[in-house]
Amino acid sequence: MSGAGATLEVVPAVLILLGPPGAGKGTQARVLEERFGLVQLSTGDLLRAAVAAGTEAGKAAKAVMEAGDLVSDEIVLAILKDRLLEPDVSKGVILDGFPRTTAQAEALDDLLAATGQRINAAVSLEVDDAAMVTRISGRYTCGGCGEGYHDSFKKPAVAGTCDKCGGTEMKRRADDTAEAVATRLQAYHAQTAPLITYYEGRGCLETLPAMGAIEDVAAALKGIVEQATR
Ligand code: AP5
Repeated sequence: MSGAGATLEVVPAVLILLGPPGAGKGTQARVLEERFGLVQLSTGDLLRAAVAAGTEAGKAAKAVMEAGDLVSDEIVLAILKDRLLEPDVSKGVILDGFPRTTAQAEALDDLLAATGQRINAAVSLEVDDAAMVTRISGRYTCGGCGEGYHDSFKKPAVAGTCDKCGGTEMKRRADDTAEAVATRLQAYHAQTAPLITYYEGRGCLETLPAMGAIEDVAAALKGIVEQATR
């Protein structure tokens, strides 16, 4: 991996979005990007790009992701460190889907400590498992710009045409099957939910009820981010 030994950017804000599959991490990260000029770093998106590019990491991750299991910490950390070397992260980052294990959280602490930085807030999006299946099964994204939509909750103004870029190629994810979603929820509860306690212990946990409409969750999140980045 190219990240070994290179210097990481110092970023002005570090926000973490925690939550099970379908909680709205990606949706809210995109709102925060527009609202605060921060950069969304989604390890899921980075891994899907690696799979699509056919890199060694992507080849190793493909079957694991399609089954709904977690990709190894080693692969995820290498991909994230490479991304953190790119200059745009100096605007501040929203970590979407990372960390997902205690080992990843500890590695992030080490990375930030090396550059004298801290986590402004780790926001846990609180949702019901049952609703997540509905959210995920109706999800699709624009193949051109990645804007997210939903069959019921967030339709484009013109069916089949992206509101943002005008693209007409819409995509659904390979791991949005009922079997993989069940495995992803299990992985969340077993390996990622313990991070809520981890960040509570570090004094940066914010809990956000996220069963409301997208705009209502975004409004509450705006207040949390304003407070945490003051
Ligand atoms: P990843 O891509 O991170 O997927 P995920 O965590 O399962 O989360 P999702 O992207 O499914 O959900 P989301 O919370 O972003 O919801 P969204 O905003 O899209 O990871 C995929 C895989 O990659 C993992 O299973 C694993 O294999 C691997 N991986 C990734 N990171 C890893 C890591 N750090 N370590 C190890 N492995 C890793 O919303 C869902 C839908 O609901 C959308 O259609 C949206 O429009 C709609 N919606 C959103 N909010 C609302 C609302 N408030 N009301 C109604 N609808 C809403």
